[in-house]
Amino acid sequence: MELNKAIQNRHSVRKFSSKKPDWKDILECIDSARYSPMAGNNFSLKIILVDDKEKIQKLAEASQQLFISQAQYIVVFCTDSSRTVNAYEKRGEKFCRQQAGSAIQNFLLKIQEHGLSTCWIGYFVEDQIKRELKIPTNVTVEALFPIGYELKKPLTKKMKIDLDRILYFNEYKNKKIKKIKKLDV
Ligand SMILES: Cc1cc2nc3c(=O)[nH]c(=O)nc-3n(C[C@H](O)[C@H](O)[C@H](O)COP(=O)(O)O)c2cc1C
Repeated sequence: MELNKAIQNRHSVRKFSSKKPDWKDILECIDSARYSPMAGNNFSLKIILVDDKEKIQKLAEASQQLFISQAQYIVVFCTDSSRTVNAYEKRGEKFCRQQAGSAIQNFLLKIQEHGLSTCWIGYFVEDQIKRELKIPTNVTVEALFPIGYELKKPLTKKMKIDLDRILYFNEYKNKKIKKIKKLDV
C-alpha cells in the first residue's frame, strides 16, 4: 500500500466483524515497531500479544470500554524505561513516551496496510492491566490496541485539522513565510 494512503486512511475502529485476523499478520505489524528510532539505540518497548478470551474481557473491563471485548486479539505496548533513564536521567522518561508513539505509529500503518483495524486505547486502570498480564511494577503500560476487521466502512471521513492551524515559520505563532529571494546567476 502506498504510504500516503495508509497515513490518510487510518482511522479508529470500535466495531469489529467476527472474522478472526491471522496472527502472523499481527506479528508482522508488531515487527515494524523494531524499526522506529530510539535514543542511544536503547529499545525501551515490550509488546504483549493477547488472544486469551478471558484476559481480553478483563482488559476491556480495566479500560471501561466494552467494545474492546469484541476483538480477538489485543496488542499491549509497554515501556521498560530503565536503560534510557540510566543514560539520559530525567529526559529518559520523556524520550520513552516519544519512542512509544513513534513505534506505535509504525504499527498502526502496518495494521492499515494489512486491511486490519484498531483503536488506540489510552484510557485504562493501569494496575488492573498489570495484574492481569503479570507486568512488573517498574514497567509502564503505554496503550492497548484491540485488533479486528472493521464491521462497516464509515460513510464520511473524519475532519482533520488544517495545516495552517498548526504550522508556524521561524517563531512560535508566526504564520508568515518570508519569500525566498531569487539568486541572480
Ligand atoms: C493517546 C491516545 C489515547 C486514546 N485513547 C482512546 C481510548 O481510550 N478510547 C477510544 O475509544 N479512543 C481513544 N483514542 C482514539 C482517539 O479518540 C482517536 O484517535 C481520535 O478521535 C481521532 O480519530 P481517528 O483515530 O479516527 O483519526 C486515543 C488516541 C490517542 C492518540
